[in-house]
Amino acid sequence: MRAPVVITGNESKAEIYQRLEKEILAVLDGEPHLISRMATIACLLHDAFEHHIWTGFYMVDGENGDELVVGPYQGTLGCLRIPLGKGVCGAAAQEGMTQIVKNVHDFSGHIACDARSVSEIVVPVFDKDRKLIAVLDIDSDVEGSFDEVDKQALENLLAKVFAV
Ligand code: SME
Repeated sequence: MRAPVVITGNESKAEIYQRLEKEILAVLDGEPHLISRMATIACLLHDAFEHHIWTGFYMVDGENGDELVVGPYQGTLGCLRIPLGKGVCGAAAQEGMTQIVKNVHDFSGHIACDARSVSEIVVPVFDKDRKLIAVLDIDSDVEGSFDEVDKQALENLLAKVFAV
């Protein structure tokens, strides 16, 4: 496990997110395809922070929308399907609320796709009718990587990209 994350350089985490949001919105301008939009976000978010080891989307699927299926991501092999309510992703989808887990070993039911994963944030993705379409899952190999700054920045970004 690596030491707690240190953002090097002159930018704060909030400033990195501000820059990223501009970049993502500029790249996606005029591109309506859902998969392309998700793939672009996964790529740019994954590269922005050294501690991100898995960054991607699980999309609502299943006959009654009771399952998540893996979508565009960066990182090692992710599990393909997660039932609603299972793991951190399933909890975010079921509750429709962002989940921040400081240490996945303390989260009962955590689904370990990559043994390096120590902390994570999962943010629900809604469309313009406030229907849940996916969750964004970011895993880190550093304990306590995610906080309110990540939550606010990611929720804002996802609303601007998917709820329009
Ligand atoms: N972290 C997730 C499982 C998916 S992988 O980590 C890619 C969870 O417990 O919901």
